[in-house]
Amino acid sequence: MKLWGGRFSKETDKLVEDFHSSISFDKRLYKQDIRGSIAHARMLGKCGIISTYEAEQIISGLEAILKELEEGKLEFSQDAEDIHMNVETLLIQKIGDVGKKLHTGRSRNDQVALDVRLYLKEEIVYIIQLLVKLEKTLLDLAQKYINTIMPGYTHLQKAQPVTFAHHCMAYWEMFYRDIHRFKDAHKRTDMMPLGSGALAGTTFPLDRNMVKEELGFEKITRNSMDAVSDRDFIIEFNSAAAILMMHLSRFCEELIIWSSDEFRFIEMDDAFSTGSSIMPQKKNPDVAELVRGKTGRVYGNLVTILTVMKGLPLAYNKDMQEDKESLFDTIDTVKGCLITFTPMLATITVKERIMKEGARGGFGGATDVADYLVTKGVPFREAHKIVGELVAYCISKGIDLEGLSLEEYKDFSPAIENDIFEKVNIENVVAKRNVAGGPAPEQVAAHINTARKLLNEI
Ligand code: ARG
Repeated sequence: MKLWGGRFSKETDKLVEDFHSSISFDKRLYKQDIRGSIAHARMLGKCGIISTYEAEQIISGLEAILKELEEGKLEFSQDAEDIHMNVETLLIQKIGDVGKKLHTGRSRNDQVALDVRLYLKEEIVYIIQLLVKLEKTLLDLAQKYINTIMPGYTHLQKAQPVTFAHHCMAYWEMFYRDIHRFKDAHKRTDMMPLGSGALAGTTFPLDRNMVKEELGFEKITRNSMDAVSDRDFIIEFNSAAAILMMHLSRFCEELIIWSSDEFRFIEMDDAFSTGSSIMPQKKNPDVAELVRGKTGRVYGNLVTILTVMKGLPLAYNKDMQEDKESLFDTIDTVKGCLITFTPMLATITVKERIMKEGARGGFGGATDVADYLVTKGVPFREAHKIVGELVAYCISKGIDLEGLSLEEYKDFSPAIENDIFEKVNIENVVAKRNVAGGPAPEQVAAHINTARKLLNEI
């Protein structure tokens, strides 16, 4: 029996039944749906819209249903269309006619908005916790490898030496912004829509603030039409997730490159690598590749919801039922990625010697030689040219800047003295970049300290 069957003289076609039912995926919202209904019923009783006795019967009925669902003793039915009508049907079956009073002053339109908000709020909090764990892992790595020199790249060509710590802290910053994007999305999710009805509120004297308090929302929504047709809190979440995945996939790409035989900067732990079914020697960075790959579906889910919402007239439209699967998929994907990525990162072996060798080989001190010439009175543009010629000379000789003799240096510029060697020393090249935000260990140590404090404030 349909809860909305009154005005119809025909049964719904079976095809439509299957097509519009959302229970297969919105059953995920059962806890939130029941919690919301309990708060609604309590408020109806308190406001005298139903009797307190009726409210109590409804509440204990709902509590019993929650328990039985959790014990796997109850099943949802396709006929009841969605989670809201499934719960209501189960309630009426359990407590009889009084259950029919639950939906007073409420619509599935404000109900679904409530359920998704409740659900998403919890998930955002959990995702932020996972991100904080990742951030702590990055801080530990940065602390441990604060003096570990590695090449820094532009255009994936060696550019100037940095440290592994500095590189890690670059990601720390990205994920820190991600955390704040999720916090922001949480703020705008944290609004209680019940009382908005189908779109135009209700004639019943509901106490919306009471429901807000019971359900732990920050605010109530301010416009009933907006409250039932707004899905931009979902879009914001999906955007934050897409940006996070973009960051993760860049990091994964680097980890994959670094673990290749060409780089050998890191090695993944065996527990986070996989083999090949044919090539016995293989050890593949599948986790990092999968995270990189899953970025695609998270982007796709963002485009899905943006497209579903595009051009919809106010207020509720059934199109909006399409908001959930993509949202759930993004939530699952982001959680799965973070849960696996963090321990994978925590267990990498960093090959410090190879990293440092890599930094040595790339003429990373070239800018420093030019800067040195500037201090000796050579204009920078001229210094740039001299050092370019020096580098070409080194390449032809198969040596680096540290391998040149003073005589050779002097052939290129008489301004160069013996103190050039400390300038091109790779440790010095890094240590001298002692500007705020720079890679010098002193700066990175300060950055780590600030980062720990910022993390504690989240
Ligand atoms: N299952 C629906 C959804 O997810 C719930 C709201 C249905 N409202 C309606 N008027 N048909 O959007």
